[in-house]
Amino acid sequence: MLSGGSTPRTLYALLASTYRDQIPWTRVHVFWTDERYVAAHDPNSNYRMARDTLLDHVPCPSGNVHPMPTHFSSPDAAARDYERTLRGYFHDSWPHVDLILLGLGEGGHTASLFPGSSALREQTRWVVAVTASAEPPRRLTLTLPVLSRAASIHVLVAGAKKAGALHHVLTGLPDPNAYPASGVRSAAGTVIWWVDREAASQLVVGTESRTPSSDAPTHPQADTHHD
Ligand code: 6PG
Repeated sequence: MLSGGSTPRTLYALLASTYRDQIPWTRVHVFWTDERYVAAHDPNSNYRMARDTLLDHVPCPSGNVHPMPTHFSSPDAAARDYERTLRGYFHDSWPHVDLILLGLGEGGHTASLFPGSSALREQTRWVVAVTASAEPPRRLTLTLPVLSRAASIHVLVAGAKKAGALHHVLTGLPDPNAYPASGVRSAAGTVIWWVDREAASQLVVGTESRTPSSDAPTHPQADTHHD
């Protein structure tokens, strides 16, 4: 499952070039974690970004690509339609997705789960429409119960603007209402954080000040990687 934003562009381009031949594309099914409610050709479309940087350059059959719909008159109808698509694919049981790629917003959002959103409390629906505190505001997003059932979650975080949010998410007590990304847990799998030096600048990792008792990860279910 793919996310949008600008951070994954480089990864998608690498998957379409350097790593293209290492992935069994004909057996890969692609879904999205969230989508801006704009036309598929709009520059803000997460589907368009993934298509331009990745999907147009790899032999993934078009029938395996499942973008979130944005042509319904209401985003809520589109969210329900995408949930039907997912339920059909996963035979109506909670999806156990192989791999979910997420990003982190400056305010702590992930997918299109924004601070204070009632979508963060959703326990039944798989996909909901939200009004985001970001442009464009109309969006569709997967809910936390879907994200948390993935076998592996990879969160890509880059840039100094993310440092504060990353620090809160990885070192604070989980508070999804304030920092939605802190609600991302993998019930049966792994969460791996890929962060660059700028984003990690407020984290203290691998320093000599570490004491034996502080060797336990500060965030039990998160592995943190940075370059
Ligand atoms: C979106 C997202 C969103 C994104 C973060 C990070 O559609 O906006 O899926 O959750 O991953 O906002 O975005 P950047 O990579 O652009 O900073």
